[in-house]
Amino acid sequence: MRVFNFAPGPAALPLEVLEQARDELTDWRGSGMSVMEISHRSKAFVAVATEAEADLRELLSIPDEYKVLFMQGGATAQFAAIPLNLTQPDSSVDYVNTGSWSVKACGEARRYCKVNVAADAAASNYTSVPPPSRWQLTPGAAYLHYTPNETIGGVEFPFVPQVDAPLVADMSSTILSRPINVSRFGVIYAGAQKNIGPSGLCVVIVRQDLLGRARAGTPSVWNFKAMADDGSMLNTPPTFAWYFAGLVFKWLKRQGGVAAMGERNRAKAELLYRTIDGSGFYRNPVEPACRSWMNVPFVLADGALDQTFLTEANQAGLTNLAGHRSVGGMRASLYNATSIDAVRALSEFMLEFARRHG
Ligand SMILES: Cc1ncc(COP(=O)(O)O)c(C=O)c1O
Repeated sequence: MRVFNFAPGPAALPLEVLEQARDELTDWRGSGMSVMEISHRSKAFVAVATEAEADLRELLSIPDEYKVLFMQGGATAQFAAIPLNLTQPDSSVDYVNTGSWSVKACGEARRYCKVNVAADAAASNYTSVPPPSRWQLTPGAAYLHYTPNETIGGVEFPFVPQVDAPLVADMSSTILSRPINVSRFGVIYAGAQKNIGPSGLCVVIVRQDLLGRARAGTPSVWNFKAMADDGSMLNTPPTFAWYFAGLVFKWLKRQGGVAAMGERNRAKAELLYRTIDGSGFYRNPVEPACRSWMNVPFVLADGALDQTFLTEANQAGLTNLAGHRSVGGMRASLYNATSIDAVRALSEFMLEFARRHG
């Protein structure tokens, strides 16, 4: 039996896609082999890889002047790859700090170049996005980095920043959750394990004029141009994850694409926030305009009930609701594969739990 899985990542995947992968696991397209057992350079796998990229391009309307890279090392590797590819040691870069993942991205960049924290939400305990009018931008910055959705704090930008420097976005927990205008960005990167597929893959969408700027000493596998020139096959890519991502992209197209997902995701998030706000028992600390559609953290009126809540939720088939270890409380992640039915079941459970313990 499948549970309702609210994991933050690795996260729930569409059942239809899991079943398809299961059905073709040992004999992929009549080959007598698994897709994992064939060369990444075979005609058959190259076709899979090419189709996955084409579907992603279609889903996000990625313009031709952008390269799509299928890389390894997760989003964390990109925290270093971004400055390695876009700066020299004397370059300055701007970072907007809205939570744990921005802090990590920023910390890594400091090892390579001069980092200016243009805006910092630490003072508000990461419950909002600082208004752009107060950002302190560096003239001539090599780029501005931000985290459109903070997975742990549940803070999401309600706007795309408008800056002169190339915009770099860590979209790990928001990519494909709604339409975006790719042409506003210099680089978009996203670890796969939330809205794309299994972990081990990181999608990087990079504007071509930003290729070829890597500093000397950049490892080839982290060099955007080297990867782009080799079709992301400079070395052996994570073939199963790439194949699986391709199946997810097809599933997304069958769902009506990212516009339809956006409507669904908005409805899911609205339902859960309504439940929280109307309960008088649960609380979400994030400023309403910056509340995430993908990750909804909340606390109970009495923290002593946390364990009981988690145990009873598990018994009701509602899993992976514990907040991140650094903040505690609860968090429900509502990525694309999480249905409105799952969110309804969670809301009903929460209200019933509040009635019994409130
Ligand atoms: C927004 C964001 N950035 C970066 C990461 C780190 O990703 P990875 O573990 O794939 O390196 C995560 C992981 O959850 C994340 O949510």
